[in-house]
Amino acid sequence: MIRVEGLTKDYGARRAVENLTFNAEKGEILGFLGPNGAGKTTTMRILSGYMPPTSGKVEIAGFDVVEQSLEVRRRVGYMPETVPLYPDMTVFDYLKFMADLRHLSDAEDRVDDVLEKVHMEDRADGYIGKLSKGMRQRVGLAQALLHEPEVLILDEPTIGLDPAQITDVRKLIQDIGRERTILLSTHILSEAQQVCNRVLIINKGKIVVEDTPEKLQARLSGAQRIVLKVGGDSDGLLNILKHVEGVNRVVPNLNGAVEFENIPGQDPRPAVARAVVEAGYDLLEIRPIGLSLEEIFLQLTRDEPEPPTTADYERLDDPIDSDESYADETNDNQAIDSEDR
Ligand SMILES: Nc1ncnc2c1ncn2[C@@H]1O[C@H](COP(=O)(O)OP(=O)(O)O)[C@@H](O)[C@H]1O
Ligand SMILES: [Mg+2]
Repeated sequence: MIRVEGLTKDYGARRAVENLTFNAEKGEILGFLGPNGAGKTTTMRILSGYMPPTSGKVEIAGFDVVEQSLEVRRRVGYMPETVPLYPDMTVFDYLKFMADLRHLSDAEDRVDDVLEKVHMEDRADGYIGKLSKGMRQRVGLAQALLHEPEVLILDEPTIGLDPAQITDVRKLIQDIGRERTILLSTHILSEAQQVCNRVLIINKGKIVVEDTPEKLQARLSGAQRIVLKVGGDSDGLLNILKHVEGVNRVVPNLNGAVEFENIPGQDPRPAVARAVVEAGYDLLEIRPIGLSLEEIFLQLTRDEPEPPTTADYERLDDPIDSDESYADETNDNQAIDSEDR
């Protein structure tokens, strides 16, 4: 249903997407997982027929997105990252307006139908401006379904929603996905794992991993980062930790605590706790936290778990270097943490 071959997109001198190749079949929900700036939105806009690629070939239901973009748009429902909605319109009027733009002959029936699909029949006369963010996302989804497209392209459909709304929207997507092909982007690993049949991980414009959620989980299982906090001065901790079996990649974090990864399959926490206490520290906290997407890429793209190397230890003596390796642990990471725990 979706065929992408060698897709590349440059914005001026900047390459946003490089040589992507993937397919999606009918009934499949394909996840597009990657951090901000990975190239998800760019790819989705090209697949929807709204922007031409710089090079490469994309076919949707057998139609070329460049040569036959009208045919493509007829078959694709696109829900952009920010759905342009008109706050002063009612839900019904907005959807009717969108249906008319598409020259749908049975516009009103189609609107009723999509309202039912997104479970908003009772909101038809409500003003869009008064809707919660979750409800607006549903209107965005409804608008993408008006022309009964075979392919749905959803750009981060759960971004900015609260947990209950996220659950609702995910369920909705899974229901809708049964008869269609869905490409869904997200920067949340657990969302891709829950909703999708297959996941492509994209980073810096390239596909780095393609796998089923089950296999991804297996490849990631046991990989954790653990934060360790002690009372008072934590100066000597790094030295102690690096001699504990099962501990990998120790770095100081910004709050005076220390973080390390376990070697997959090993749980070094009891040994760490003992070593810390034996060395005379007061142990305040030892707690696993989610891996950032960057760390997940590292885990997934290295075949064998690497034992810690001398280079890892040498890094410990250079706090600036270590800080940098965790510098991008901001919003994305929080999203992952709150999702996964
Ligand atoms: N209209 C644009 N002009 C120039 N650069 C852009 C434009 N849109 C996106 N980019 C750049 O292309 C890269 C991919 O962006 P995007 O596709 O939006 O990624 P994502 O959706 O995964 O966050 C980023 O480096 C971004 O800064
Ligand atoms: Mg985006």
